Amino acid sequence: MKKGEFLSTGEVERFLAHFPLGLQDIALELRNMLASLCPGATERILWGGLSYHDSAKGGPIRGAICQIELCDDHVRLSFIHGARLKDPKALLEGDRKSKRYVRLISYEEVPWEAITELIRAAADLDPSTFDAPLKPLRPRGYDPIAEEYAEKYFNELDHKPFDRLLLDRFAARVRDLGPVCDLGCGPGQIARYLHERGVDAFGVDLSPEMVALARRLNPGLRFEQGDMRDLRALPAGDNAWGGIAAFYSIIHIPRQGVVRALCELWRVLRPGGSLLLAFHIGDEVVHLDEWWGKRVSLDFTFFSLEEMEDYIRQAGFDILEVLERAPYESVEHSSQRGYIWATKS
Ligand SMILES: C[S@@+](CC[C@H](N)C(=O)[O-])C[C@H]1O[C@@H](n2cnc3c(N)ncnc32)[C@H](O)[C@@H]1O
Repeated sequence: MKKGEFLSTGEVERFLAHFPLGLQDIALELRNMLASLCPGATERILWGGLSYHDSAKGGPIRGAICQIELCDDHVRLSFIHGARLKDPKALLEGDRKSKRYVRLISYEEVPWEAITELIRAAADLDPSTFDAPLKPLRPRGYDPIAEEYAEKYFNELDHKPFDRLLLDRFAARVRDLGPVCDLGCGPGQIARYLHERGVDAFGVDLSPEMVALARRLNPGLRFEQGDMRDLRALPAGDNAWGGIAAFYSIIHIPRQGVVRALCELWRVLRPGGSLLLAFHIGDEVVHLDEWWGKRVSLDFTFFSLEEMEDYIRQAGFDILEVLERAPYESVEHSSQRGYIWATKS
């Protein structure tokens, strides 16, 4: 951030003068926080509050960091891009995608640490990524290890009763809803399992080698190369699919791109359709340069259940079930597993 422009103390004090002292104290503390966390911000009196944006990232809306509004009995700290913020303490209110806010009533009870984190995260947002052309992922990411992956995981469901039960229930729900995609299918074991249960299943994967392998291992089933972040090229029209089972593919979408990818899945699902998502639980990003002796470059993003639930809701889905299980040792990587079953209403 380049050095920004803050109003003079006199201007701010004149603006705040009409409000109760307790609320002024909160507003001034927030303002101090903004000045120290976002020295490049531009401060304006706008829409009846103190508004902060980073002019290098756009105007008061696009480059918005936050706004301090003084209401009768509380200070409202609003974030225009609030839906994109991680909010582990669930402070943000408002069910609109934009302009989420925190209500601050008394200075002593403000969760200052969490507020600091929200402001810091809002200042770090990069609006150019919101609707910029998608940065190409590495389609060849899994190519070098496709064979090894298939060898290890193609028959994994034999050893995963929890997953089989869940997929059985999923199959029963989507069977009559039209095509169902195993998205990020790898060798296609999920598509095959669903197909064996009467589902019109097919697979999509980013890696051409995985797609070739899935075709070889599952003759008679359809597999296509595609990117879950934009399925129009497949082509996949709006409301086209009855279900999507995406097992451990969302883990390769960078955190800041997850809502956008889920919006794409929402677009292609028909009303009443189901999304079943599986992922590793955690908050880390694991990078691999080497896997089974082969050179790769892969990032694995772990998510908390709450975080993923929030992303899924932001994309417009209704959540049906949230499940967690311990790893099947010796069958799979030893991470806690999360499953979310959501529907498009
Ligand atoms: C961990 S593997 C999971 C494969 C399989 N679903 C399973 O459960 O074993 C992740 C798969 O997601 C695919 N993938 C990664 N990013 C993707 C994207 N943007 N769109 C579609 N597939 C993707 C990878 O190529 C890889 O085959």
